[in-house]
Amino acid sequence: MSVTDAEIATKSAAMRPYENRRTFAIISHPDAGKTTLTEKLLLSGGAIRQAGQVRARGERRRTRSDWMKIEQERGISVSSSVMTFERDGIIFNLLDTPGHEDFSEDTYRTLTAVDAAIMVIDAAKGIETQTRKLFEVCRLRDIPIITFINKIDREGRHPLEALDEIQEALALDVTPMTWPVGMGSDFFGVYDWKSKEFLTSDAGRGGPFNVVKPVSGLEDEALTGTVFDRVMDELNENVELGGEAYPPFDREAFLEGHMTPVFFGSALRDYGVEELIRFIATFGPAPHSQQATGRKILPDEDKVTGFVFKVQANMDPKHRDRIAFVRLCSGTFRRGMKLKHVRAGKSIAVAAPIFFFAEERELAETAYPGDVIGVPNHGQLRVGDTLTEGEEIHVTGLPAFAPEVLRRVRLTDTMRVKQMRQGLEDLAEEGLVQIFKPTIGSNWIVGVVGILQLDVVIERLKQEYATEIGFDAVQYNTARWVEADSELELRKFLETNRANVALDRDDKPVFLFKSAWEVTYIGEKNPDIRFRETREIV
Ligand code: G4P
Repeated sequence: MSVTDAEIATKSAAMRPYENRRTFAIISHPDAGKTTLTEKLLLSGGAIRQAGQVRARGERRRTRSDWMKIEQERGISVSSSVMTFERDGIIFNLLDTPGHEDFSEDTYRTLTAVDAAIMVIDAAKGIETQTRKLFEVCRLRDIPIITFINKIDREGRHPLEALDEIQEALALDVTPMTWPVGMGSDFFGVYDWKSKEFLTSDAGRGGPFNVVKPVSGLEDEALTGTVFDRVMDELNENVELGGEAYPPFDREAFLEGHMTPVFFGSALRDYGVEELIRFIATFGPAPHSQQATGRKILPDEDKVTGFVFKVQANMDPKHRDRIAFVRLCSGTFRRGMKLKHVRAGKSIAVAAPIFFFAEERELAETAYPGDVIGVPNHGQLRVGDTLTEGEEIHVTGLPAFAPEVLRRVRLTDTMRVKQMRQGLEDLAEEGLVQIFKPTIGSNWIVGVVGILQLDVVIERLKQEYATEIGFDAVQYNTARWVEADSELELRKFLETNRANVALDRDDKPVFLFKSAWEVTYIGEKNPDIRFRETREIV
């Protein structure tokens, strides 16, 4: 990048506080390198002091709470969190997302709280299923995407092939920002297209990047002297081809989600990470407007608004604490403020809001749009809730998804019905599971999008509520929320179909279906009834 750290610092000093926020998430298929990249970004922002801490932190957390065993055993990351760090006056709020598809609901909701996403792709594997799904969510929400093609220190696909895949598979314009010089055993480093710098290693090929050679261009002798001629010839050819085939970076197109800048790099060996972070600082979007009922909320409005995109209960099992993660959309938040909890119609004093850093938490005295604060509470706040300085408005776009797995809850010790219900209600508030109370019969049915969520429910009820449960199969395999324009029609339908109707935790009716065929069949037989796959959480 041609922009220097000093230039970024001068620019950021002149910004309004929210304009220097960069709130983003990393999306990827498991194993593409999300954890490694996160760690390197935190390291480059000085948020952690040594590599390996993101993983180590995860491990400490795992030993603290046993349910994380599932994570450990299966090598997946279940819970999302927020990591804030500062560099050259820019505040980066990195929202972590679970990579495993069974927890994709959590990821979808987290993506409602970001302004940009980094899509990490394994250079050898290309776009994998989970990346594609998450990409689609970003596209639906017009979230600008920056692509990081990782692991170029290993044998991978040809850069042109990798770029073409993104262009074709995702229907996005691509523009390369850095270019790999060789790959695998011939890997020499990365050429920065804009600054005409060559990033290489003193430690020999494949070592961590630690030398920046400014060069006049690809013809520079300093370059040919450094790397094998063969690789250079290939590079020159590629760059020529690439230069013709791909449009130059266009900020508007990027912000509108039509163009993705592509960084080739290696998170493990530090190639391309600096360029990526400077890019986000310089071009990455500042907090954008948020759609709400009736209007858009703009970040420069005076009054505070924010919404809960995630709730985590029992972070400390001894205290039964519950933290609601609130993304601020407008205004300047100050600790102690009284905010209106719109759904409940009540006011709450936010006395001990928390900022999350990589290694510690801190009381949040002041926060601006784009920031995420953790609000400790006793269960009042849940995913989808809006907080305002009095206005009756709901942030929209946080969906609950129709579950694809339904199970009846079996309680081993019948004396613990109360604890089980409390536990399930709590976990439903977190968004981990959905609960349905059948109109006939008393055993609750739970619904999830991915089967692994069930394991987490069993484990957490055991650890946090000392309650052992199991799940029995039911004849249903999906649920749809039921709506109709006519209240009378709706009541008639629900009455006639009592055996298949249940209420969700907000007492909204759902119809339980036995098969996909039945969804179509019953839908066609009842044209006045709407069967919805998603429901806005309000
Ligand atoms: P994830 O969070 O997306 O699941 O991926 P993670 O960062 O855990 O990386 C998955 C594996 O890929 C790790 O190896 C990691 O070291 C490796 N990796 C990440 N970035 C690069 C890169 O740029 N180059 C190369 N060559 N490897 C990379 P692992 O063996 O599974 O774990 P570990 O034993 O190294 O910790």
